[in-house]
Amino acid sequence: MKTLKDLFLDELADIYDAERRLVKALPKMAKTATCNELKKVFQTHLASTAGHVKSVEQVFKCFGGTARGKTCEATKGLLEEGDELAVNFQGSPAINAALISVAQKVEHYEMASYGCLREWAAALGNPKAAELLQGILDEESASNEAFTKLARAKSNQEALGVAEKPRTGKRPVRPVMSPRRLVRAPTHVGPSARILL
Ligand SMILES: [Fe+2]
Repeated sequence: MKTLKDLFLDELADIYDAERRLVKALPKMAKTATCNELKKVFQTHLASTAGHVKSVEQVFKCFGGTARGKTCEATKGLLEEGDELAVNFQGSPAINAALISVAQKVEHYEMASYGCLREWAAALGNPKAAELLQGILDEESASNEAFTKLARAKSNQEALGVAEKPRTGKRPVRPVMSPRRLVRAPTHVGPSARILL
């Protein structure tokens, strides 16, 4: 019968594969981004992701095993969708908002996984593993927050095409019909009218 430890090691193998896929995908995402701040966030995230790979290897060791990966179909699928978005939005002012959405979907998957893994490590009586997993979870949350901040401060406005002109909150002024146009004489004046004129 499968145990909680089997479930834990299976999910750890899943997230190990997810992290390694991200190490490969993030440089491409940084290259595709057209915003320098976003490139920087992706590069910082790449460094922390490489650290997560090492930390997950440590967690495997805490359970007396060596690291193994199992294809993470979720991350694979999210990254494939990301490639599709990058192609569809190439040259669009919405490209950076699109890339942030891809990164955040992956982040949320990781956050959910690490939350479960931390709980299971604690339940299995391995506080060292639980602490390592909490450390990764904290960094994932910080990365997610960095993406949200950048989207709000820049990328979403940029996607609207108004990055250089921040919205003031004022309602746009409606064009007023010219008074001259309102009193303009009829274009067709019949014979009787002509007499009167
Ligand atoms: Fe990660």
